[in-house]
Amino acid sequence: MKIYCEKDYKTMSRRAAGILAAQVILKPDCVLGLATGSTPEGAYEELIRRYQAGELDFSKVTSVNLDEYKGLSGDNDQSYRYFMNVHLFNHVNIDKSRTFVPDGLGEDPEKVCADYDEIIRREGPVDLQLLGLGNNGHIGFNEPASVFEKGTHCVDLTESTIEANKRFFEKEEDVPRQAFTMGIGSIMQAKKILIIVSGEGKADIVARAFRGPVTPEVPASILQFHRDVTLVGDEAALGNLMKNY
Ligand code: GLP
Repeated sequence: MKIYCEKDYKTMSRRAAGILAAQVILKPDCVLGLATGSTPEGAYEELIRRYQAGELDFSKVTSVNLDEYKGLSGDNDQSYRYFMNVHLFNHVNIDKSRTFVPDGLGEDPEKVCADYDEIIRREGPVDLQLLGLGNNGHIGFNEPASVFEKGTHCVDLTESTIEANKRFFEKEEDVPRQAFTMGIGSIMQAKKILIIVSGEGKADIVARAFRGPVTPEVPASILQFHRDVTLVGDEAALGNLMKNY
């Protein structure tokens, strides 16, 4: 695993954007696996800046996102489709018909999952998968569990995730209780993985995920078995990990 420990959120976002940009430059028709949450916002801003400076061309890029809240439409400002449009897609020349996010409004959850797995199979393999890290070690919305789920599935969000994500909603009751997420098996099939972490609130879980035992109770710990993972974080988030490294 490669680790970049950057001074602060801004420099870590720039580092992450540089890795994503390198992928797009090296393989213009690449498949990017993309993530939501507050951590990637700075990296997306930097990608937009580089696009506006004429350094990047997204016209041949395909993207598959990790997850979506169940019950939210793409125009709901809390949906992950909306997030991706606002934080990246609307500002670069990506072909939106080549950007994929699970269908939060799909009536039949099994069909939503099967359809998304088919998209990943058809468009994949993912060249570079961007990941954030949940406070409880989740990646995408793969919550701590007794097994690693392989494919796309519908999850019941844990209380700690609902608590962490309520900051984006007006009221806690508005936070959806379920979500669709790409499975651990699909995430692990990406050729390269870039995981980004920021803030001291993540320091303990980062150390558990990357120094602790590999267990579905800390879903991100499976990344220890992937052959090409780059961890980019700020000093606050990587502090505990670097101490023992
Ligand atoms: C959500 C997303 C994850 C994300 C996590 C961390 O639950 N489903 O993909 O990594 O939040 O979010 P943040 O970056 O805001 O800490």
